[in-house]
Amino acid sequence: MSAGADGGGGAAVAVRSAEGSPGDDSFVPSALGTREHWDAVYERELQTFQEHGYTGEICWPGPESVNRLINWNNRHVPLRLANIFIFCGNAIFFVAVAKFGFSNITGIDYSPSAIQLSGSIIEKEGLSNIKLKVEDFLNPSTKLSGFHICIDKGTFDAISLNPDNAVEKRKQYVRSLSRVLRVKGFFLITSCNWTKEELLNEFSEG
Ligand SMILES: C[S@@+](CC[C@H](N)C(=O)[O-])C[C@H]1O[C@@H](n2cnc3c(N)ncnc32)[C@H](O)[C@@H]1O
Repeated sequence: MSAGADGGGGAAVAVRSAEGSPGDDSFVPSALGTREHWDAVYERELQTFQEHGYTGEICWPGPESVNRLINWNNRHVPLRLANIFIFCGNAIFFVAVAKFGFSNITGIDYSPSAIQLSGSIIEKEGLSNIKLKVEDFLNPSTKLSGFHICIDKGTFDAISLNPDNAVEKRKQYVRSLSRVLRVKGFFLITSCNWTKEELLNEFSEG
C-alpha cells in the first residue's frame, strides 16, 4: 500500500494534549468521533435537502484539494482503469471527484442518512457508475475489496477522536485498508489533525 499524505484539513478538528506524541492516544476525545454525532449531522442535512434542495458545501479543504487529488491520480493511475473507494459523507467531495471522469467509484459511510443523502445528490447530478454502501470501515464486509485507490478526507481524523479506545480503532482502520486495497494500491488521505510524518508512521505497517 502506498500512502499519499496531504497536509491539508478536514472537518474533524481535534485538540491534542500537551504531552502527546505521534502514536500516543494524545487526541482529546470528541463527539466528532462518534456515530451519534454524524447520524445527527446527516439527518439534518438530508432533511434540508428534501425540503429545500440544498446540497450542502464541501468541508474545508474544498475544491482545491479535489484538484490536487485528481492531478496526483492522473499521474499514477489511468483514469479509465481506476476502481476507486471513497468515504463519502455528504457526497459533495465525492461528487466533485466523480465529475472528473472516473468510471468506477464506490462510496461508503457508516451513517445510513449520509448514504441516503449521497444517493439523492448523485441522482440530482445525473451521475452513474457510482455504488453507495452503508459500511462501518472498522468492520468492512468481504464485498469491499479490490480497489486501486482509496481516498479519505476526514474519516481517519474522525476515528482518531473516538472516545472509546481510539488507538485500537486506528489500528483497525489500517487493517481494513489493507483488506480493501489491491496489492500496490494507493491510499490518499487529507487530514487536519495529523502531520505528513505522523501519517506515514501510522500507516507504515499496512
Ligand atoms: C469529517 S467527515 C468527512 C466527510 C467527507 N469525507 C468529506 O470530505 O466531506 C467524517 C466522515 O467519516 C464518517 N465515518 C466516521 N467513522 C466511520 C467508520 N468507522 N466507517 C465509515 N464511516 C465513518 C462519518 O460518518 C463522516 O461522514
